[in-house]
Amino acid sequence: MQVAVLGCGVVGRGTVDLLTENAAWIAARAGEAVTVKYILERRELPDCPYADKIVRDFDVIVSDPEVGMVIEAMGGSHPAYEFSLRALEAGKHVVTSNKEVVANFGTALLEAAEKNGVQYLFEASVGGGIPVLHSLAEDLSGNVIDSIAGILNGTTNFILTEMFTKGKSFADALADAQARGYAEANPAADVEGLDACRKIAILTAVATGVLVPTEAIHTEGITAIRAEDVRAAESVHCAIKLLGRMVRTERGETFLMVAPFFVPRTSPLYTVSDVFNGVLVHGNFVDDVLFFGRGAGAAPTASAMVGDVMHVASGGAPVHRPWKRADAGAVTDFAHFACRRYVALEGVEQGAAAVIFGAVEPLAVEDGIAFLTDEISESEFFDKLARITAAGGKLLSHIRVL
Ligand code: HSE
Repeated sequence: MQVAVLGCGVVGRGTVDLLTENAAWIAARAGEAVTVKYILERRELPDCPYADKIVRDFDVIVSDPEVGMVIEAMGGSHPAYEFSLRALEAGKHVVTSNKEVVANFGTALLEAAEKNGVQYLFEASVGGGIPVLHSLAEDLSGNVIDSIAGILNGTTNFILTEMFTKGKSFADALADAQARGYAEANPAADVEGLDACRKIAILTAVATGVLVPTEAIHTEGITAIRAEDVRAAESVHCAIKLLGRMVRTERGETFLMVAPFFVPRTSPLYTVSDVFNGVLVHGNFVDDVLFFGRGAGAAPTASAMVGDVMHVASGGAPVHRPWKRADAGAVTDFAHFACRRYVALEGVEQGAAAVIFGAVEPLAVEDGIAFLTDEISESEFFDKLARITAAGGKLLSHIRVL
């Protein structure tokens, strides 16, 4: 099968490297050679060993009947979405790592794939090299999935690990993550939680068949976390991790969120450090399943891309059925989400805070006061915080507990 790769950045180049280095193995496993015929790239890449394959016009690719599959590694919504759609409409399979396109346009692209008798596959869009989407779509698909909790962004997990185990500054840790090819072109998408938000939207869509718009997902990043918060977390045997979560409660509520959480030592996610991702899925029959592996970087992402390529090249059946668009009420108002909370305040005494928050577990901190609350909802928390503020107190940190 002849393929075209869109984009020769970290992921595109890594995918071509894998297809080249493992060509004989891939041909033997797939039953036919997978050959890169074109690489679409705007930039001049004089040192690229694949320079002879570079083209600048997508029309060359989409109009070539020899190209059976397009591997999209461009990043960004546009023109990646339009090129993917045109490739599917031209009867070419599309494999992508582009979570922005899958989260924003996955419904339309899966519809187009089904209509044209080809596949749209995106294992590399979530969890880097971890084969979590195929598992959810196939092996676990008989379960009702009632919870997903994932460390879904390698950059932020790397930054948190470097900052808090090696004492690096946020800026240095981020620069290192960028140099290693982990971060997005605009790393704000990593550190402000949007990348993890897209990934929890995709995981939930694969698990439930409904794609929730990212705007409907409560999203916070890691930029407000203080060194004091980490020490407070450690004092109660927790680590701070940026989690994407889908929670279905027994009352029939569905919550979706991305936020930093205190993760207790008893959770399998506690030890997931560095660039690794971990996704803890709970199904109503299987119970807990943990997926773990490298969440970013050229080689792990290429591994997931080529896994999808192999699925198609070996004649595998469609993995993903078209998704429904979320209707109003698909996600419960986040104001009702209840959990324990770590709260750090200044300008207020522990006793006065306890009057407002009730029985709390005080934590020893150097500045101000800090405590863990009982399980309370978002709206209850913000009502109590308003009373603290009215009494002259100020919020230093608020982090939910898993
Ligand atoms: N910027 C992303 C991350 C890349 O750090 O997880 C992989 O999706």
